Amino acid sequence: MSLINENFLELQDSYLFSTIAKKVAKFTEENPNKKVIRLGIGDVTKPIVPACLEAMHKAVDEVGTQSGFRGYGPEQGYEFLRKAIVENDYKSRGIEITEDEVFVSDGAKCDCGNIVDIFAKENKVAITDPVYPVYLDTNVMSGRSGKYNKEKETYENIVYLPVMAENDFKPELPKEKVDMIYLCFPNNPTGTVLTKEELKKWVDYAKENQSIILYDAAYEAFITESHIPHSIYEVEGAKEVAIEFKSYSKTAGFTGIRCGYVVIPKEVKGFTKGREEVSYNKLWNRRTCTKFNGVSYITQRAAEATYSEEGKKQIQENINSYLENAKIIKQGLEEVGFTTYGGVNSPYVWLQIPKGMTSWEFFDKLLEEVNVVGTPGSGFGPHGEGYFRLTAFGTKENTIEAMKRIKKLKN
Ligand code: MLT
Repeated sequence: MSLINENFLELQDSYLFSTIAKKVAKFTEENPNKKVIRLGIGDVTKPIVPACLEAMHKAVDEVGTQSGFRGYGPEQGYEFLRKAIVENDYKSRGIEITEDEVFVSDGAKCDCGNIVDIFAKENKVAITDPVYPVYLDTNVMSGRSGKYNKEKETYENIVYLPVMAENDFKPELPKEKVDMIYLCFPNNPTGTVLTKEELKKWVDYAKENQSIILYDAAYEAFITESHIPHSIYEVEGAKEVAIEFKSYSKTAGFTGIRCGYVVIPKEVKGFTKGREEVSYNKLWNRRTCTKFNGVSYITQRAAEATYSEEGKKQIQENINSYLENAKIIKQGLEEVGFTTYGGVNSPYVWLQIPKGMTSWEFFDKLLEEVNVVGTPGSGFGPHGEGYFRLTAFGTKENTIEAMKRIKKLKN
């Protein structure tokens, strides 16, 4: 008889975006003539830029020749890409990261989820609330959450750090000692940011408490304000306590191509029960070699091309146009009296929904009355209740149309 991993039974419902997809599929089946506009999941709509396409075509031709054929690549990523990452994403910002501290992967979602492998089950985990569900669910799966409390809608062993209008969406330091802290800035789902000084408090906390910050910077390319850090390593001391996740999904439209990376500086250390120091970089390298065979050569060449002069320019144009959508959403909502957050350094606009309604009720109202899909705030955690997320990753035409429709919502 095989026994199951009972931690999975502690998971609540299905994965948020699958639930939404199911609801939308049911609605479209029942209303085949209605044109639904999807501003729910943060999936991009702009095609891959020419610089990346060209690099992929070239790589395809290359692997079709005897001399250019590539079998298994290095599990951690090809040197050419790790070098480009170090140069463009770190050195250019005055951050010293070495190539062997970079691990190329098939995306930040997988990295954020898989990273739990190298941490002990006993670690106390802190997450912001609301939060990108992957951080929480993967800790539930790996047995760190304890039991779910239905009334409170929280897990007994997870420390929740509320982010809401009342604290300007800036999480407060935990009152108790925690070992693993998930931070995502620009934030998913609220679209808000932290300054370097605000982030410094977290780095200091982590140093004092020998905790690790798991920093998701998947949306850094959308930062428009110059004082907002693009990497946690811009903060002094962060290299000792932070692991950083980056993604080409939103930056370069690779949600379907799949590529990202995680940075684990060698100074980031954990401890054995006997208090012996161990480098997380070493553990992750070992895990990667065992469980992963690397990202395809063709994909990594595409990722490398995002750093070429042409690539940078083309990608920036796409990002600007998504940011333009964010502006359209924000303005459109504010014109009809919604209070909004985010959308300035982020492709996400977080809005306060009318009082007396749950965020799932607002989801249904939006879908049924004006055929627009968004993401209910409570899907990201209990403090997301009362809020709703719209993504700027739609086409401009759909974004404008969605705003026109939302203005017609009945009170
Ligand atoms: C989101 O909508 O929050 C993201 O697209 C999900 C993801 O990146 O996995």
